Amino acid sequence: MQQPIRLAPSILSADFAKLGEEIRAMDTAGADYLHVDVMDGHFVPNITIGPAVVAALRPHTRKTLDVHLMIAPVDPYIEGFAKAGADILTVHPESGPHLHRTLQSIKAAGVKAGLSLNPGTPVEAVLPVIDLVDLILVMSVNPGFGGQRFIATALDKLRHLRAVIDGCGRAIDLEVDGGINFETAGQAIAAGADVLVAGTASFQGGPAAYAANIERLRGGQG
Ligand code: DX5
Ligand code: ZN
Repeated sequence: MQQPIRLAPSILSADFAKLGEEIRAMDTAGADYLHVDVMDGHFVPNITIGPAVVAALRPHTRKTLDVHLMIAPVDPYIEGFAKAGADILTVHPESGPHLHRTLQSIKAAGVKAGLSLNPGTPVEAVLPVIDLVDLILVMSVNPGFGGQRFIATALDKLRHLRAVIDGCGRAIDLEVDGGINFETAGQAIAAGADVLVAGTASFQGGPAAYAANIERLRGGQG
């Protein structure tokens, strides 16, 4: 069943020179999760942050740190991100040779496990490992950068996964990431998403606008 809609601002669009302040402002503004995009310049063509930054951010919020790992290989870094204070670690099936083992090691590290599907990755990739996942992330852009245009075929994938999740009877978050704005938020919610990642749209207008941005995105109003 679709759970209450939660909003996860992506700190990729924050002012990196004052990340702690930005996290606190988003927390106060009503963010549900804080989405942290980790990129290695290899799995995706951009480089962002590592476990040390997650550890530095942890004292600034008690909300869920939703850490999206766009790195390969991913296995050597799972324990480090868990120890740094991540609540959810989401991986891509392409980021290691043994997805099932990778998800097992995330659970063994004591955090929730997410699986992310790129626009070119089929829904079927999730089926053999669904028992191990707490969150499924549908990428609605190719990962690597904020500010890209929403790829509408993600909506079919969300509808398909909504049925798969409802059929399995467990509360698995269905998250969508990329190009979420005031228009596409409503489309994604209607297709079954219950966690929306938004970078550009959450941070636009600066701190004074964060609360209104979150409320409007969560409501899915155009
Ligand atoms: C893209 C990242 C996203 C990104 C979304 O690779 O996974 O989380 O920050 O940015 P917007 O919302 O601007 O498309
Ligand atoms: Zn992301």
